[in-house]
Amino acid sequence: MTTANASSPGTEKPGASKINGIAVAAAVVLLLIAGLLIGRQWFGPGATGPSTDTAAIGGPFTLVDHDGQTVTDETFLGSYVLLYFGYTYCPDVCPASLARNRQVLDILGEKADGIVPVMVSVDPARDTPDLLKAYVPHFHPKMVGLTGTPEQVAEAARAYKVYFARVGEGEAEDDGTYLVDHSAFTYLVGPDGDYIQHFSHTMGAEAMAAKIADLL
Ligand code: NI
Repeated sequence: MTTANASSPGTEKPGASKINGIAVAAAVVLLLIAGLLIGRQWFGPGATGPSTDTAAIGGPFTLVDHDGQTVTDETFLGSYVLLYFGYTYCPDVCPASLARNRQVLDILGEKADGIVPVMVSVDPARDTPDLLKAYVPHFHPKMVGLTGTPEQVAEAARAYKVYFARVGEGEAEDDGTYLVDHSAFTYLVGPDGDYIQHFSHTMGAEAMAAKIADLL
């Protein structure tokens, strides 16, 4: 590092030790990424597919709906639920996922009559029932928005193996412009309250509708 330090900033050429340092840093980053991928495979619903670990996904929750009423997993018994975890300030993935889910229900037509689209907020600090009430009709007239205390939301997310975390916690939190990093699966839950299948946010509406038609 001494040769590099001797050069003026901006024009320095990496010395051998600096290249070694970069190689080590790159190896550490690769290991971290590998660890994250393995972690998601083991603990997330994503990579392994639903057939091997369906029992691990889903479970009881208590939340508040967009009318301020207490809602539990039992509230939806008797209906299929198309369940998504997101937040109203999400700039991209949530609106795209919810619009795709709307398309899915439109494609299913009458078959979708027994399906309730639901969004659980992973940003309960900002997503009040009133805010959800204004947001969800943009994506479906039947859509139910759910929020709750941070503990209630964490419990629901845990049940469905949903990862979420504020980005830029701290200063960004003060001006209310923070983002929330979150997994973006949509879950199909059966009339008995049991998890059936989950869908990536990248899946097309036609393919997803065909799959759900098979599962109903
Ligand atoms: Ni989002």
